[in-house]
Amino acid sequence: MSHADDHVGTRRDFLYYATAGAGTVAAGAAAWTLVNQMNPSADVQALASIQVDVSGVAPGSQITVLFLGKPVFIRRRTPAEIEAARAVQLNELMDQNAQNPNIGDNEPAIDQNRTLDAEGEWLVQIGVCTHLGCVPIGDGAGDFGGWFCPCHGSHYDTAGRIRRGPAPQNMHIPVASFLNDTTIQLG
Ligand code: FES
Repeated sequence: MSHADDHVGTRRDFLYYATAGAGTVAAGAAAWTLVNQMNPSADVQALASIQVDVSGVAPGSQITVLFLGKPVFIRRRTPAEIEAARAVQLNELMDQNAQNPNIGDNEPAIDQNRTLDAEGEWLVQIGVCTHLGCVPIGDGAGDFGGWFCPCHGSHYDTAGRIRRGPAPQNMHIPVASFLNDTTIQLG
């Protein structure tokens, strides 16, 4: 198999990776089980928006919720994570698009355009690798202190931006907003 073939992936590959990725989340995120139990039933999941209580999320930790069938990582970053993300220059990025529908289609991927709040404490992103759909491992994983996708070795930084590996885009930001100090609405 050529190098290119290796990265094309069939639908069957995709399903395998997605399944493997979901297992990673279930095993790796302590908050997953608790939050998942609070998720609405399948019919309610079709709703276009959900509200998430983030009052219990401490700096340096994240929760994963299921929204529209996909995991969404909600991370409360530490000052060190924010500083690291903001020190990166745009020309260092593989994908220079913020991938954030909350601010428009083609905004630059500076850290300030990735986070939900101006201070940069809250990063909300769809937890799906933009290569072939695995769920990356978080909590400082990978060479850039953010997330790492073990399927083919994609490294994301503390702003969820792709920095090394085959993934073509930064992890996508969902439509999201703060309803109040402790509640984030997705959708
Ligand atoms: S799915 Fe291939 S690196 Fe993530």
